[in-house]
Amino acid sequence: MNTNRLSKTIQQALNDQMTKEAHAAQIYLSYGAWCDSEGYGGTANFLFRHAHEERNHMMKILEYILKRGGKPTVTAIPAPPADPESLHQCFEKVFQHEVDNTTAIYALVKLSFDEQDWATWNFMQWFVKEQTEEETLALDLLDKLKIAGGEKADVDMLYNLDRELKDKPDDATLAQEVTEEKP
Ligand code: FEO
Repeated sequence: MNTNRLSKTIQQALNDQMTKEAHAAQIYLSYGAWCDSEGYGGTANFLFRHAHEERNHMMKILEYILKRGGKPTVTAIPAPPADPESLHQCFEKVFQHEVDNTTAIYALVKLSFDEQDWATWNFMQWFVKEQTEEETLALDLLDKLKIAGGEKADVDMLYNLDRELKDKPDDATLAQEVTEEKP
């Protein structure tokens, strides 16, 4: 009796996404290590915390595959890309990475829709919302750097930005959650 409630295609796609989330954790770890080595300890702290969040995303998918009677396959994680050359480039790379991840999430949503796997479709909605938040968070980093002077930001500006990021929460407020009291 087949007790796996996931099709082969969906299970493989979920598995691939699981590895992508692990890869994302490696990317944040790697950029965090670069930031710290360049003296941006606060930004490193922010990126290290985010690496942890990406690992949680990975676990969420792994547990979902198991709950549906499937079998996750833990594979090798691709190496992170080369170090950025500036804080500005670091934030740009973070943003681009999140946009690419959103594309992968949307493909999974479409696949589950096409297969009429409504359980997976429903599960993936959490990731759709999460990606909106992640992109907002990454855009926010770029905005803060832009205000600080972008590529031309001086040492004092970068120092203040770095301190601010040390304790910056990992969550962004989404447009649909905004109220008059909580803009
Ligand atoms: Fe798990 Fe940053 O997306």
